[in-house]
Formats: sequence, structure tokens, C-alpha cells
Amino acid sequence: MTDKALPIDQQRKNDHVKSALAQQEIAKNSDFDEVRFVHQSLNTVDFANISLETHWAGATHALPFYINGMTGGSQQTKQYNQALAILARETGLPMASGSISAALKHPDMADTFTIIRQENPQGFVMANLGAHHSLENAQKAVDLLQADALQIHLNIPQEVVMPEGDRDYSMWAEQIAEMVDKLDVPVIVKETGFGMARETIEELMNLGVKTIDVSGRGGTNFIQIENERRDHLDFSFLADWGQSTPEALLESICLQDQVEVLASGGIQNPYDIVKAISLGAKAVGLSGKFLHVIDSQGIDAGIKLVEDWIQFIRHMLLLTGCQHITDLKHQPLVISGQLAEWAYQRGINTQALANRKQASS
Ligand SMILES: Cc1cc2nc3c(=O)[nH]c(=O)nc-3n(C[C@H](O)[C@H](O)[C@H](O)COP(=O)(O)O)c2cc1C
Repeated sequence: MTDKALPIDQQRKNDHVKSALAQQEIAKNSDFDEVRFVHQSLNTVDFANISLETHWAGATHALPFYINGMTGGSQQTKQYNQALAILARETGLPMASGSISAALKHPDMADTFTIIRQENPQGFVMANLGAHHSLENAQKAVDLLQADALQIHLNIPQEVVMPEGDRDYSMWAEQIAEMVDKLDVPVIVKETGFGMARETIEELMNLGVKTIDVSGRGGTNFIQIENERRDHLDFSFLADWGQSTPEALLESICLQDQVEVLASGGIQNPYDIVKAISLGAKAVGLSGKFLHVIDSQGIDAGIKLVEDWIQFIRHMLLLTGCQHITDLKHQPLVISGQLAEWAYQRGINTQALANRKQASS
């Protein structure tokens, strides 16, 4: 039930968590089902020497997936940040905070974020902020978490449907360029479940951005979440807005040698992670799934899930003939159905993808 005593941004964060958890209970079709590997009957992989190491945002990461930005900004979501930070510490997953905007506005909310660093002093931690913020705020967000990188989120569809959302995006590109130029930590620009287009990625590259999370449609849906918070103007017709994560990865494919691409949005299992990396992602972020596991089953179940997924991914590398996780991006992939239709209309060569040369393992 809505607590009228809370400031709107704190109540909003609690509402987001509640709706996002409910969305995890609903089974959805996934565009990852339209991506298939080509089975080969011989390979040369040695399971004992499989490597999952990836390199992005200026650091080497032992695991190819991470906890993406979600919580903090209300006392209720401090508990989630604490649980997720323990999960990150115990498994070695990189982790992002939710938008630190709330702590910049209400300094008494700072501890709902700093708990992340407190629980995980050695881990790779990303601070998170919207693109409308100043360089000064960005530096404050980084300092608050002693962050290793800053995520800047792009969320225009959410702002449009949010009753109290921002209506002026005129400074976003300029602010991003300044943050990239002046901050001394890597800046990762991420979507929030609506996917990126090739044109957006090119624009971000022109602003100097080196790492991008295409965060696509398929999982947490912020148009639906904000629409539930409205009492007039029903935007439910926009529920399918944006590119799915596989579509966004295909959009990025011709740019992946010039920019680091991360993927998130709708990741439900380790097979999705393997497919996203094969489509060119350096690493894969999960939000709703981790939130749901922590909320419904607790931290130990979250740790077990991560450990199981690491084993599944190692076995998938064995099956696909990849000694190193980065070999996945040379595996031929066959794209079908609506995903193939999207690629065709956007001039993306799926035949080249289906016939690319495997790395010798
Ligand atoms: C409860 C919740 C809160 C979120 N808050 C933020 C945020 O503050 N900043 C941000 O960049 N993304 C935020 N996101 C978006 C996620 O980082 C991610 O881009 C999106 O949820 C898609 O991933 P998923 O399908 O794995 O949830 C939030 C997601 C959830 C579930």
C-alpha cells in the first residue's frame, strides 16, 4: 500500500520494486529463443582450462555477468542493496547501484547506497545516475560509493509515461560528453529495458562513450510499471516499445570493434547469457531476476543460483567448442522468426552471422 508520508521519489522506488517483482512472476516470450547455435561434432576444448574472464570498463572481470542497477533511495530498498552487495561479495559479481539521484536530493538517504561499499569493500562497484545530472553530481555519486565506474542511464520511455517524469532532454548529450571527458572513472551509458539502436550507439560513440549497455526489452518493463502509477492517460498500448535485447545486440554488431557492448534486459537463464555474449556482449547484466531471487528465496539461494550458472556456462563453452568465453563471439548463429525479420529490415546481415568462422580453440 502507498505510504503517503514518503517523499515521491522514495515512494516511487518502492513502487518500482513491487511492480518489478510482480513482473518476474509472469512468463514471457524471449527473442533469445530465435537465436540458435550450430552444433559441431568435434572440438578441442579442455574443460579444466576453460576461462570465463572478460575485460570491460577498464578492468578484468572473473565472471561474464553482473548485478545491474536497481535499488537504494528508500529505507526499504537499502535492504535489497545490502543483500545484493553480499551476493556480489560472495560470488565476485560486479554490481551497480540504483540511481543515486535520491541521495543527492535527500542526503539522509546516502546510507541506502553506501551499504553497498560497506558490505563489499573490494568488489567492482558501479554508481548510477540519470543523464540530466551535472558533472558535479556525477562526481558526488562516484565518491559516495568509491565507485570503479559510473553508469549513466537513458530512460526516455519511462520518463514519458511517468506522471512526474522529466520533459526536457535537451542537455543529456552535452552532460554525457562532459562526464566522459572529465570523470576519472569509466562511464558506461545504459538503457533501462528499451534497447539501443545503431544510430544511438553511434551518437554515444561520437560523445566519447567507450562502454554501452544496450539494456533491451524482454524483462522488466518500465512503461508498464509507470503506467500502473498513473490515474489518467492509459499508455498500455506502448507495452512493446523498444528493441529486445537480441535486437539491440544485432543493432550493435557492426560497431562492436569500436565500442565495448554490454547486454541486459530479460536475462532469465545462463543460456541467455551465452547467447548474448555470442551476439557480441562483453558481459551480461541482470536486474529483475536477481531482485526476485533475493526477495523470494534469500541470499544463500542467490549465491547458489550464481554458482550453478557459472557451472552451466562452463558446460555450454564445452559444448560449443569455446576454450575462452570470448571465443563465443565467433560461433555461427542462426537467427529466425521476428528477430530475423527485424535484422532484414534494418540491413543486418544474418547470413554472415550464420556462416562466420569459428575461432580455433
Ligand atoms: C526495481 C528496479 C529498479 C531499477 N532502477 C534503475 C535505476 O535506478 N537506474 C538504472 O539505470 N536502471 C534501473 N533499473 C533498470 C535495470 O538496470 C535494467 O536496465 C532493466 O531492469 C532491464 O533488466 P532486467 O530485465 O534484467 O530487469 C531498475 C530495474 C528494476 C527491476
